[in-house]
Amino acid sequence: MKYKIALIRGDGIGPEVVGQAVKVMERVGERFGHTFEFVDVLLGGCATDAVGKSYPDGTAEKCKACDAVLLGAVGGPKWGADKPAEQRPETALLAIRKDLGLYANLRPAALRPAMADACPLKKETAEKGIDLMMVRELTGGIYFGKRDRYETEDRGVEATDLMAYSEKEIERIGRRAFELARLRRKKVSSVDKANVLETSRLWRSVMHRLAEEYADVVYEDVLVDNCAMQIVKDPGQFDVLVTENMFGDILSDEASMVTGSIGLLPSASIGDCAPGLYEPIHGSAPDIAGQDKANPIATILSVAMMFRYSFQRSAEADAIEAAVDAVLSEGWRTPDIAEPGVTPIGTVEMGERICRHI
Ligand code: IPM
Ligand code: MG
Repeated sequence: MKYKIALIRGDGIGPEVVGQAVKVMERVGERFGHTFEFVDVLLGGCATDAVGKSYPDGTAEKCKACDAVLLGAVGGPKWGADKPAEQRPETALLAIRKDLGLYANLRPAALRPAMADACPLKKETAEKGIDLMMVRELTGGIYFGKRDRYETEDRGVEATDLMAYSEKEIERIGRRAFELARLRRKKVSSVDKANVLETSRLWRSVMHRLAEEYADVVYEDVLVDNCAMQIVKDPGQFDVLVTENMFGDILSDEASMVTGSIGLLPSASIGDCAPGLYEPIHGSAPDIAGQDKANPIATILSVAMMFRYSFQRSAEADAIEAAVDAVLSEGWRTPDIAEPGVTPIGTVEMGERICRHI
């Protein structure tokens, strides 16, 4: 097959980790007989520096002409909250999610066998294993609701952010979660705050309807505060977690932390049609940018997700994941995951070692 891939290298360590992921794709191409055409797309702080806005005109169209999008990382203190919205990298991220219709954000948090010691939880808890899939709604809710800031007569300045969800939006993300659970351990935990929020009560009623339809999948409701607690107490109980945009933002960071290394975790954002967008969940780490210190594994595992979810090529995805596990079992570590006493290797060497195992 020939695949056309948009590369958003982005800011900070983004270009370095994408560089290694591209090497891995080329190696997968050699091994499985695929070729790639790469299209560079400018987005993020680097775009602000180059053309004055973080989401240059035509970005969505460029991406839509590709089969998938790979993103390194965007953001950095240089383009902080004090800058106008069109210059901030976050604005670009939200815009591309919306413009490409990427309503389902899959964030797996799994403890890789060679990294079991990195889990900060009690040994007994880690031994039970962690392998959960956070399914976060990505194009609705409070992130995209109406916002306002205005003067009041008696309370000074006031601000509001509106959280809205439609049945349709809830149903399509719910279906994704149930379908994924069928390919995994057949359990869906739907996270909401139905004891307080009307959006959550609607969410829950739609999920209950789906749970009847997917009767082969075990279903439970979990309140978001309890969920935050359960993720640190007993993450092994979860298979697929499905939740609205902001709860998913918060809980996915928490879930990534319990696996011990944010440098290892990939993500996929998908909609009903191509292209999907694949990116590591870590940020742009400007403090280590350009020093060959960044861990490319999360981006490389994002490529595995691209093969699995955008191209329906699980053999290629399995080969990438197995190569990552092999290199980790041999004891190779980048600085972020190096145990005391282990001499770390650099970004490039990690990428090369993974390629050699494919
Ligand atoms: C994430 C990030 C983004 C989000 C920010 C950078 C806008 O935290 O992808 O989780 O909140 O969605
Ligand atoms: Mg986040």
